[in-house]
Amino acid sequence: MNSAVTTLPDSLEPGKIPAHVAIIMDGNGRWAQQRGLPRQQGHMAGVKSVRKITEAACRIGIRYLTLYAFSTENWGRPKEEVSALMALLVSCLHDEMPLFMDNGIRLRVIGQSDVFLPEVRSALDAALEKTAGNTRMDLVLALSYSSRWELVEAIKSIAREAKSGRLDPEFVDASVVNRFLATSFMPDPDLLIRTSGECRISNFLLWQMAYSELYFSPVLWPDFTEDMFYAAISDFQKRDRRFGKVSSSNQSK
Ligand code: FPP
Repeated sequence: MNSAVTTLPDSLEPGKIPAHVAIIMDGNGRWAQQRGLPRQQGHMAGVKSVRKITEAACRIGIRYLTLYAFSTENWGRPKEEVSALMALLVSCLHDEMPLFMDNGIRLRVIGQSDVFLPEVRSALDAALEKTAGNTRMDLVLALSYSSRWELVEAIKSIAREAKSGRLDPEFVDASVVNRFLATSFMPDPDLLIRTSGECRISNFLLWQMAYSELYFSPVLWPDFTEDMFYAAISDFQKRDRRFGKVSSSNQSK
């Protein structure tokens, strides 16, 4: 793929590509189970979808793609599954480096960074550093992330600032809160996609999704294709986003 070229399928309107798409990649376990395979095989198949969808997002000019790869709650899964996911993450960071570099993709991580084993942490640090100069798309991995964790951390930091006198509590507003979130470097998601037919948010970007459009696909993540991704974007492009106001066509009535 030529990194400089944005190519849109006919179904998409050029002026209305969402700046930020977030995805809850759900259904790896069920995908494996349906085939009589261990759950880890489902995650391995899920990595292929990560690659396809990352490439597709980049191709159509999405600026930020956030993937919920591992939640705070996922630490409670069986030890073998957690280890397999960590090993998969490390190999993925290595194997996908050409994809990141060829396509100008900057890797970012949101989540609790101090809980990973040293080998995972150093693979992450190396990938973050190597891709830091890339500017076409940010691929944001939510790792050991949960929204409540993030909000608690932000509240603690704001309280510390206030206590030290550096911040007047009267001036705390939504933009101040945004500055203390792990996502402060990017806009709120325009669109959230969740695969596998589950219709919930699962502690993901709760603050940031105040006005996101939600799209639920019944397809399990390993079966989620580029065309399904484009269909989600096309659906988004037909939505009337009012952000709590009235639509522009009704404004003078
Ligand atoms: C949800 O499926 C998926 C996860 C908890 C992990 C997502 C991980 C990947 C797609 C692969 C690794 C990603 C990277 C970036 C290396 P589930 O296991 O909850 O599925 P289930 O609901 O069917 O059990």
